[in-house]
Amino acid sequence: MPNDTKTANAPLGNLEEWEDFLKERYPENGSGDHAFQAIDPNKKKEEFRNYETTARPSVREFYRLNHLHQTFDFVQAKRREFLSLKRREMSIWEALEFLNTLVDDSDPDTDLSQLDHLLQTAEQIRQDGHPRWFILTGLIHDLGKILCLFGEPQWAVVGDTFPVGCVYSDRIVFHDYFSENPDSREPRYQTKLGIYREQCGLDNVFLSWGHDEYLYQVTKDYLPSEALYMIRYHSFYPAHRDGEYDYLMNDQDRAMFKWVQSFNPYDLYTKSHERPNMKELRPFYDDLIKEFFPPVLKW
Ligand SMILES: [Fe+2]
Repeated sequence: MPNDTKTANAPLGNLEEWEDFLKERYPENGSGDHAFQAIDPNKKKEEFRNYETTARPSVREFYRLNHLHQTFDFVQAKRREFLSLKRREMSIWEALEFLNTLVDDSDPDTDLSQLDHLLQTAEQIRQDGHPRWFILTGLIHDLGKILCLFGEPQWAVVGDTFPVGCVYSDRIVFHDYFSENPDSREPRYQTKLGIYREQCGLDNVFLSWGHDEYLYQVTKDYLPSEALYMIRYHSFYPAHRDGEYDYLMNDQDRAMFKWVQSFNPYDLYTKSHERPNMKELRPFYDDLIKEFFPPVLKW
């Protein structure tokens, strides 16, 4: 791939650079195991700006491309392209192994694989005594990142998600980059409600396209609502960490976002350098997968 194309599609050395940035922006609150303040109303826009100025150039470029390209029409096109789920048929474990073939610029000697990270997340949830569906959600929540292996650019797989078709909250990181997005010149998309109705429910709202929505669509027939909310909205930081877009939510969304918030610390803060013992853990996870999923799913 010519270098300019590579940079345009993959400014990040690896996807973890985005997650590392999230950890800087939303640091873990010291009190308690994985305690954090879900929404801090006192955090000023200026404080977030600091994270922007100290962000690595690769992260900044990643967000620039994300905010530039994620238009309402782009989201619709990606939904048409991927949500017929006609690419592959795979079991959950096959999808985990497929995701594990995602090799990026990280050092293979020191860095853990995608599957190692997912097992760490699931194991932490298990150690904290949460229900089986919660553990399973930890294991699979990032499986949608296989979009990268279908050739999708990083900015169309990961990144904090945000609604398209209505105004961009000024709490969205790198908000200034939205000025390059063609939708910012569409008046019908730039009012508070845009194309939506007050409290229409998030199921009726289109978020920027990425691994969350894709995996939600793959798994939506098999998991409890709480798990599906965690999968579908775990990157919707403007809502679950900054409290934005409440006016698009209905009562069910508000109730379910407590689960999204309880999942977030496991997503962000459980990564360690200790490699999980795959051989020992495999039987437990095989049983867990079998409890909820059919042998093969459409991807
Ligand atoms: Fe994720």
